[in-house]
Amino acid sequence: MLRTTVGLKVFMAVTGILLVLFLIAHMLGNLKIFVGPTAFNHYAHWLRAIGTPLLPNTWYLWIQRTVLTVAVIGHIWSAAVLARRARAARPVRYAHRQPVQGSYAGRTMRWGGVIILLFVIYHILDLTTGNLNPVGDKQHPYANVVADFAPHRWYVTIWYVLAILAIGFHLRHGIFSALRTLGQQSQQWQRRSRAFALGFAIVLCAGYLSVPFAVLTGLVR
Ligand code: HEM
Repeated sequence: MLRTTVGLKVFMAVTGILLVLFLIAHMLGNLKIFVGPTAFNHYAHWLRAIGTPLLPNTWYLWIQRTVLTVAVIGHIWSAAVLARRARAARPVRYAHRQPVQGSYAGRTMRWGGVIILLFVIYHILDLTTGNLNPVGDKQHPYANVVADFAPHRWYVTIWYVLAILAIGFHLRHGIFSALRTLGQQSQQWQRRSRAFALGFAIVLCAGYLSVPFAVLTGLVR
């Protein structure tokens, strides 16, 4: 199936959906910060205990990490193969190309993807391993998050905001494309897919952005 272009697009959509499911769960988890330090830290400890006593501690987390890593690699691989095929189908470049083709998000998928990948590497070193965090206390993620977005570390907040906006653009176009691949080919379906993708991207961005802004304004301290 992965030899055909449609098969590759379906694979890209399915790996993308797995990543989106993680993004939804992670955003809901992050919002626990508004409940307070005890609830947030308890939630982080619970993440390590999911699946127990059936599985030993942290096993579920490692299974999830493995699935997500495979999904990220698969997503990037299928994007690269599809891009190479599109180029090979048109070896001679257009002498005249329409300057406006597709949406802004559609044209920035590749660079957006690179920014998101760099962000995830930074973010893991910041809030999972603690190496780049001023507190870096694995037992108290609440304190790590509050220290991260302190006003004097405004450059960290800007970096997070940029990465989250890149995710928003990437999702808007990605969800729209995935729905087009997996759904019907009608005008009405396209219109609904576009509206859904935009609404989803806005809600997700707002959820993620609310945390650094709450710390910056002193609502969470
Ligand atoms: C302001 C927004 C965000 C905040 C406050 C935040 C917070 C956190 C925290 C506290 C952890 C560590 C949890 C723990 O180990 O107990 C974490 C882990 C993680 N976050 Fe985020 N996050 C944010 C945005 C994102 C985004 C946008 C992505 C994806 C593009 C992401 C992906 C991850 C990943 C992959 C992990 C590692 C999970 C693991 O340990 O397996 N985060 N985040």
